[in-house]
Amino acid sequence: MTRVLVLQGPNLNLLGTREPEIYGHETLDAIHGRMASRAAELGLEIAFFQSNHEGSLIDRLHERDFDVVIINAAGYTHTSVALRDALLAVHPPFWEVHLSDPWQRDEFRKTNFIHDIATATIAGHGAQGYIEALEQIAAQFGGAA
Ligand code: DQA
Repeated sequence: MTRVLVLQGPNLNLLGTREPEIYGHETLDAIHGRMASRAAELGLEIAFFQSNHEGSLIDRLHERDFDVVIINAAGYTHTSVALRDALLAVHPPFWEVHLSDPWQRDEFRKTNFIHDIATATIAGHGAQGYIEALEQIAAQFGGAA
């Protein structure tokens, strides 16, 4: 069974109340609940990890207990050479997901340290983007549906 690790970066624990006009009203737990249901339907194994700390996200990647990663690096997308280096070192296929479309927002969000090494990027589809990533992973790496 394909093992998917969902890595969630800083401030995503506040989804539901954090700038809901940009990020929606759904909490991270609710999104993860929907992802777990869809992953079960698709025959994917799934694990979740959220941290506000760059090093914790990197340490989690170093555990290498997954086949594919879905990552919303949040603010670290635009700043973290170290996270990019970890993704290159561990070298999983990974889907970059953003709830909003950073390329349509502030100028500084156009700087992106992981986009060019991502297997695929889904941005601006809200929480549905995570479900789409799971469906693409199942289509590419196998699953039940
Ligand atoms: C985000 C977009 C980033 O620019 C921002 O820093 C986030 C969330 C998104 O999901 O739309 O924290 O990754």
